[in-house]
Amino acid sequence: MKDQITAGTILQSEALSKYILETSTYPREHEQLKQLRMATVDKYQFWSLMNVTADEGQFISMLLKIMNAKKTIEIGVFTGYSLLSTALALPHDGKIVAIDPDREAYETGLPFIQKANMEHKIQFIQSGAMKVLDELLIKGEEETFDFAFVDADKENYINYHEKLLKLVKVGGIIAYDNTLWSGTVVASEDDEMEGFLKGCRGHIMDLNTFLAKDHRIELAQLSIGDGVTLCKRIK
Ligand SMILES: C[S@@+](CC[C@H](N)C(=O)[O-])C[C@H]1O[C@@H](n2cnc3c(N)ncnc32)[C@H](O)[C@@H]1O
Repeated sequence: MKDQITAGTILQSEALSKYILETSTYPREHEQLKQLRMATVDKYQFWSLMNVTADEGQFISMLLKIMNAKKTIEIGVFTGYSLLSTALALPHDGKIVAIDPDREAYETGLPFIQKANMEHKIQFIQSGAMKVLDELLIKGEEETFDFAFVDADKENYINYHEKLLKLVKVGGIIAYDNTLWSGTVVASEDDEMEGFLKGCRGHIMDLNTFLAKDHRIELAQLSIGDGVTLCKRIK
């Protein structure tokens, strides 16, 4: 198994992964992101790999700044590494609708979000995401979001896509995390793998095939973290 520093990355070379983190990412990582990351490892041990990798957080942050994003949706918060990376990249009056049924995980990261003075940008909603996306549409928030980051229940990604294409503006971006699913997208059916990988591998593969055929978006699949697919809404 990969060590804690390089957990969650698709890069096959641990040395290279460590090099990227230690040379380019950690020296620039916000102190509260670092504290949140370490508190997550302390509390969740193996499952701390659910946090996006620090270089992915750095990438999301730069993307949001390039886009001048102001209003975003976060589906799948956990302890909030991607959430705090997003909050730090938005302007002072930026807004994030952050959805997760697990309040305890959110509250593990919350002290660091507060110390970074970012809590005012976040509306945390303790819920499954589908219900909240439907409510946002009913409330008339269609085409008001610049960006959505999806890192939650893989079986619903395609369903989220339909709702998010309505909520995100034309020109906005929907980013799906884990689209290389620890490399298992190229495994064969009888390869041995952990149960949680086997369970969602098919959903991720279906998503990748689906997105490639969706002409409402431009697409780029990146091999950062565990694979991230960026979908720019063009229609
Ligand atoms: C991989 S973690 C998210 C990690 C987070 N992006 C980060 O960087 O720290 C996945 C999260 O999705 C949440 N989740 C599971 N089902 C969900 C649903 N239906 N709606 C919203 N979130 C869900 C889980 O509770 C878990 O906290």
